[in-house]
Amino acid sequence: MIVTTKKLFEHAYGKYAIGAYNINNAEQIIGLFKGNIKSQAPFIVQISKGARSYTSTIMLEGLIRSADAMFPEAIFAVHLDHGDEKTCYDCIESGFYSSVMIDASSESYEENVAISKRIADAAHAKGLVVEAELGQLGGVEEHVSVSESEAKLTDPDSVKDFVSKTNVDSLAVAIGTSHGAFKFSGSQSLHFDVLAEIQKRVPGFPLVMHGSSSVPQDEVARINAAGGNLKGAKGVDDNQFKRAAELGVTKINIDTDGRLVWTRVHREYFLEHPENFDLRPIGKVFMEEYANFIAAKNEKLGSAGQLESVRKFLS
Ligand code: G3H
Ligand code: 13P
Ligand code: ZN
Repeated sequence: MIVTTKKLFEHAYGKYAIGAYNINNAEQIIGLFKGNIKSQAPFIVQISKGARSYTSTIMLEGLIRSADAMFPEAIFAVHLDHGDEKTCYDCIESGFYSSVMIDASSESYEENVAISKRIADAAHAKGLVVEAELGQLGGVEEHVSVSESEAKLTDPDSVKDFVSKTNVDSLAVAIGTSHGAFKFSGSQSLHFDVLAEIQKRVPGFPLVMHGSSSVPQDEVARINAAGGNLKGAKGVDDNQFKRAAELGVTKINIDTDGRLVWTRVHREYFLEHPENFDLRPIGKVFMEEYANFIAAKNEKLGSAGQLESVRKFLS
């Protein structure tokens, strides 16, 4: 069942965070649904601009609708990740998405306010909800590359003004995380002090943490042992998710860790089976491993076991 994040966030606020997982293909989608059912968690299917163009929006939408039919127990939102203004309008008009992110964080404060407000107005008119971003994460994502020195933590003093002027429904905040597999080079770390200040300014308002992959070191070691080269990869300690949730974070974005599962599974499999050229045996292993990864992550987020309570809350 596709829902907006509004009620999901109300249910989660202060207690746990909901996993927002980026997907691109059938194997990821099936693994995602299986893992969330296995751990009895509500979740957010997160679609980037790159994912929309990888196969096509029609294909991706069809795969998600099919997964919804295959797993009727599932409760999830369909969310555009890091949208620009045009892509947000496309998704709002599509009738399929329940939530969009407008990422105008690289613009000036005034421009960010103006663009985010336009999207919030358009989305609300169609019953969708909107996430905006204030401050700037480090790392690379599709249309923006931000170096560590350029990354800007969210200024708690501007949060209330931003939220009231834009009327957005949730806010991605920069508290020291960054996108990709190489976080916390140099002296970066999570700034819970900043998060606590933000929560004080907007109590009860849902916050979002991007760049939250944990980049497990055993996963990195296995990838490197099977021919990979990810030296120095490092992520967020997922034991910190619950603390973030207590401070108002209701959505935690994870993409890189899923890519690492894919890389490890395929590298190891083809190293062990050099004679094989069939995509299905390894596809099956990946779906299973991806489902296990999602279920384990939901335990860390605290969303595991919440599905029936969410269902009652929604009814
Ligand atoms: O924050 C960005 C996500 O990791 C999506 O990555 O744009 O390469 O699909 P992508
Ligand atoms: P990671 O690169 O840490 O997985 O972050 C993903 C993300 O923030 C997607 O919006
Ligand atoms: Zn992100």
